[in-house]
Amino acid sequence: MTPLRWPRFTCTLPTRSRMTDLTIRRMELEDLELVFLLDCMSFSLPWSLNSYKFELSNPASQPWVVEVTLPPEAGPLEYNPPHPVAVSGQVRQPGEKAVVALLVLWLIVDEAHIATIAVHPAWRRQGIARKLLRRALEQAAKGGARTVMLDVRDGNFPAQALYAEFGFEVVGRRPGYYKDNGEDALLMTATLERRKDDR
Ligand SMILES: CC(C)(COP(=O)(O)OP(=O)(O)OC[C@H]1O[C@@H](n2cnc3c(N)ncnc32)[C@H](O)[C@@H]1OP(=O)(O)O)[C@@H](O)C(=O)NCCC(=O)NCCS
Repeated sequence: MTPLRWPRFTCTLPTRSRMTDLTIRRMELEDLELVFLLDCMSFSLPWSLNSYKFELSNPASQPWVVEVTLPPEAGPLEYNPPHPVAVSGQVRQPGEKAVVALLVLWLIVDEAHIATIAVHPAWRRQGIARKLLRRALEQAAKGGARTVMLDVRDGNFPAQALYAEFGFEVVGRRPGYYKDNGEDALLMTATLERRKDDR
């Protein structure tokens, strides 16, 4: 931990206590509204509710969520996108379970694709995306993936820093890929190593 980070940890909730009951599990039908709201809070071009529904039955898809039981000191957790969306906003109270992150991975033969990943804004910079991505990549390797790829906005430095930690490198650029602002997409790839015990 670098000295610069200490002030942030001491003036917010204790990281360790927030993390004690973190569960990474496959996405279920009951999660879809919170997943969709979380997506709308995280992206200017969110997926539709139906897109997530489709992923639940897509044989090539591994949709994941991170669920926590909200600690008493955390206060209510709101799911309120900045713009009106197809479902009403929701709130989860302390003591209730809440989906705080999502990831969709596609696995096609020996290639994996991180289709999307997002963490609830109130739960960012707590290592959740790192844990979730690690789990998804482990599962992808077990499923036979040798390489993994993803698209990321040219200006999305937080996500690029996360991916760099996992060895992703920029291998291409798609000019004007994002329709809302014409931003370029960077294509990043990484190689997955299969561990000896992965059968
Ligand atoms: C990108 C995102 C998923 C990261 O989630 P997160 O849980 O906050 O990430 P983590 O806490 O696991 O961070 C892991 C590392 O990623 C990098 N990182 C994450 N957020 C960062 C930020 N805001 N600025 C700089 N680096 C950042 C850091 O290297 C960080 O390690 P550190 O905290 O030890 O420095 C989250 O910011 C998000 O949901 N963004 C909106 C959706 C999005 O852009 N998804 C990616 C689409 S390609």
